[in-house]
Amino acid sequence: MSDGTASDGAAPHSPAPALDKTGDGQFVIVANRLPVDWERTPDGSGKWRRSPGGLVTALEPLLRERGGAWVGWPGTTDPRVGETPIVFEDGLSMRPVRLTSQEVADYYEGFSNATLWPLYHNLIVKPEFRRQWWLSYVEINRRFAQIASESAAPGATVWVQDYQLQLVPKMLRMLRPDVTIGFFLHIPFPPVELFMQLPWRREIVEGLLGADLIGFQRPQAAQNFMWLAKELTGQETSRSSVGVRGRFGVVRTGFRSVRVGAFPISIASAEIDQQSKSRAVRTRALAIRDELGNPDHILLGVDRLDYTKGIDVRMRAVEELLKERRIDPERTVFVQLATPSRERVESYQALRAEIEREVGKINGEYGQVGRPIVHYLHRPVAREELLAFYVAADVMLVTPLADGMNLVAKEYIACRSDLGGSLVLSEFAGAAAELRQCYLVNPFHLNGVKDNIVAAIEQSSTEGRRRMRAMRRQVLAHDVGRWARSFLDALAGQIDDTAPFESDEPLD
Ligand code: ADP
Ligand code: G6P
Repeated sequence: MSDGTASDGAAPHSPAPALDKTGDGQFVIVANRLPVDWERTPDGSGKWRRSPGGLVTALEPLLRERGGAWVGWPGTTDPRVGETPIVFEDGLSMRPVRLTSQEVADYYEGFSNATLWPLYHNLIVKPEFRRQWWLSYVEINRRFAQIASESAAPGATVWVQDYQLQLVPKMLRMLRPDVTIGFFLHIPFPPVELFMQLPWRREIVEGLLGADLIGFQRPQAAQNFMWLAKELTGQETSRSSVGVRGRFGVVRTGFRSVRVGAFPISIASAEIDQQSKSRAVRTRALAIRDELGNPDHILLGVDRLDYTKGIDVRMRAVEELLKERRIDPERTVFVQLATPSRERVESYQALRAEIEREVGKINGEYGQVGRPIVHYLHRPVAREELLAFYVAADVMLVTPLADGMNLVAKEYIACRSDLGGSLVLSEFAGAAAELRQCYLVNPFHLNGVKDNIVAAIEQSSTEGRRRMRAMRRQVLAHDVGRWARSFLDALAGQIDDTAPFESDEPLD
């Protein structure tokens, strides 16, 4: 339990020296990770390789157009990785932020992923509150803010991403009052009574209020934040009726107004749709079915190996359905692709052991030699291969206990131009607000999950096509480009912030 007090949070309030050094980026992204991988070369040295992802795909044109930069940690503590900008041939510029292994342990594995991550995901595991981790979080947020400040041109727009960097908006504002600052939280924002457990709750809220616009995935999250801003900082809140997605909340901090709203993120839908139609992907999808023994039903899960994803829930559901003979072991396989994630954090190690035990149990009980029921891969899968799995799968299982959005659900839909397949989706994934024609489940209600898996397996092709068509319409029309534009337009725009804010009215 915490031995921290609010005074531990003194660091973010200490005056930072004003930097006279500015950069030339008109548009700067600040995220915990750079969208690059450090690849070892045969001669023993290494080189950078761009790693694809929705966010970078959406923002790349803007970064290039406006001479921007991406500030982030390259995901390695390799001392050969310096802080000099990496400039790719196509002009994309990255500013690495270096972390020592102790800082990775305290700031990244500790405060970000063993304090904030479980706290913001409804305490699925117990968050740990440690002063040493907090101090490191403050220190590293300051480092990100400083490098962002050195990268941004006078009057630039800086967009800070996610829970690892919630103090950056305020720190950056102190260094660079001339820049426009946006912040987007990719994960859920917790209910007020959970957030209030955090010993450094006021510092986090004040850190975020350094931004001009704070974006959340869902209106309820924005609502929770508005309430906290009022209670913890005593600022006046109101609502505005002008804005891309309808209404914003507004928090007045002295002479500034901070807007707060919901901006549900998405994927590069058209690109994924196109790629999934390629001959290579279609051929590979058929080969996957063949390699799996041409079963009648392929169930698929695709996740980082994270306790928020409910991988254990779907394993248990499949096991019980086999036991009750509601699914046929001769005709069904379940493929679980699980990318290794945060492997030095204890709760992730425990989860891995649990999942692997469960896989062994199901195969031991219901599989045959050469014909396991569960095919489990604990490694990332190449993009094209992943799309082929989506195309091959009859039932996609997305069962998180809590999830900001869940892009996997949207990727599956984007891949199904054949209108085949069905989606079993947790109501606690942000995506459930948009993908209404899924088989919606409460992952805490195992019988409900089982019934929906069976319904998804048994759906008629007419019914499946109807559902898939509607979900595709949604995903193709609301892509990540539209998300980024709506956020940046709101960040750049003027709004009316005169109407009083009623905390029980939805913000969307
Ligand atoms: P989170 O951001 O919490 O990991 P999302 O579902 O929103 O969850 O995004 C996960 C991203 O990682 C998706 O783009 C998905 O395609 C990718 N991904 C997940 N698992 C794998 C895997 N086993 N191999 C390759 N990519 C994966
Ligand atoms: C989620 C978070 C991201 C994070 C990603 C992968 O999507 O919202 O901020 O980058 O998971 O986690 P990792 O710890 O490997 O960066």
